Amino acid sequence: MFPHFIVQGGKWLEGETRINGAKNAALKSMAASLLFKDKLVIENIPLVEDIKRMSELLENLGADIKIEGKTMIINPEKVGGKDIDPEIAKKIRASVVLTGPILAREKEVFFPHPGGCVIGKRPIDFFIEGWSAMGANIEETKSGYRIESQHMRGAEIVFKNISVTATETLMMTAVLAKGKTILKNAACEPEIPALAEFLNQCGASIKGAGTHTIEIEGTEGTLLESRGKAIKTIPDRIETGSFLVLGSLLGKPIKITECSPEDIAVPIAILEQAGVEIEKGGDWLRVTAAKRLKSVDIKTKEYPGFPTDLQSPFAVLMTQAEGECMVFETVFEGRLNYVEDLNRMGATITTCDPHRVLVRGKTELRGREIESPDIRAGLAFLIAAMTAKGESKVGNIYQIDRGYERIEERLNALGASIQRVKS
Ligand code: EPU
Repeated sequence: MFPHFIVQGGKWLEGETRINGAKNAALKSMAASLLFKDKLVIENIPLVEDIKRMSELLENLGADIKIEGKTMIINPEKVGGKDIDPEIAKKIRASVVLTGPILAREKEVFFPHPGGCVIGKRPIDFFIEGWSAMGANIEETKSGYRIESQHMRGAEIVFKNISVTATETLMMTAVLAKGKTILKNAACEPEIPALAEFLNQCGASIKGAGTHTIEIEGTEGTLLESRGKAIKTIPDRIETGSFLVLGSLLGKPIKITECSPEDIAVPIAILEQAGVEIEKGGDWLRVTAAKRLKSVDIKTKEYPGFPTDLQSPFAVLMTQAEGECMVFETVFEGRLNYVEDLNRMGATITTCDPHRVLVRGKTELRGREIESPDIRAGLAFLIAAMTAKGESKVGNIYQIDRGYERIEERLNALGASIQRVKS
């Protein structure tokens, strides 16, 4: 038997919980360490499985990594590796963001087809087109891509669609290139300006991060220097939103601290429309279970729109709301594959097409045996199990551990009953 959670549903949650640093910000800071000459200190690192996989990838390339509490120190001085390990890359999609800094630093990179969550096709054409425009030679092999360029030069790159990791990767490649790069139709997720601001303090010249047009003036190969400055990982907006959903269902109330409410303004507005009362402070939120939840349509969109990573927890919430609503996933085409399991738990969800489902509520959920398909749907199942009547067994919890640190301990501290069974 593989590790799983045994969850007793129907327990109220009360107390305070602190939000961790954002996985999807910390992973990019780790990749950015390869743009540096000296050590990079990253604070507020979430100790999750994806961060461990990224550390392994960096260590394979020659980086020296130390973790002290929640601070990670990466020394890139001995980095010389050019190949991303395919076995580790299979487990983590974010391996692709390493390619930009390796290419910029080592003039060559091999990267295998990236893995990670099975939530859709997830092509890499924007990366390839971007590097081509910057003058790289690209060879596709059976196992991946070999990319080489002795002289990366700035270019104007127009993304056909908004992509978070393509924006970050090409932004990092451009930092060490020769001349100006302009990224158009770039992603605006808060992780991007947070990284750009720090890189600027260390010698980069990036303008417009956080908007759809980013301009980068390259250093022509001169590595950045942190000189002891640390990058503090911003709070995880997806974790914040997930705790808000839990609080809306089971909060008596719960207070969510060290978060950034402005980064999840749209999910908060949707919860309020559904009838949830949320008290807001500068860096905290307090949420009480709604007496009566109303159905609200959800349509995922790039930032500042409704995040695709919160789509599955919100669908669980909508099973407890009165009425009918549409959940429309516009970013990925494989991200509604969890609905059959929710139906087995008692939900009434009808699939309209690969992007849209209709949720009818309110339905009573009952404990079942379910397998986490990916990080976010895994957490959604945990929320469903906590809301359900009776006992559930949630399997494949490696997926949940990829994105949420010691989640059962934190939820149990609020009053949940979740037991991790190792085998
Ligand atoms: N796309 C292309 N070509 C490309 C790249 C992307 O067509 O070359 C398409 C994708 O197929 C998708 C759309 O563009 O339809 C947007 O995907 P994006 O590239 O923005 O996603 P990502 O960068 O691979 C990051 C997060 C995801 C998060 C999405 C959307 C990381 C490591 N991953 O993925 O996080 O869902 O942005 O916000 O930052 C998670 O943490 O569980 C997770 C999946």
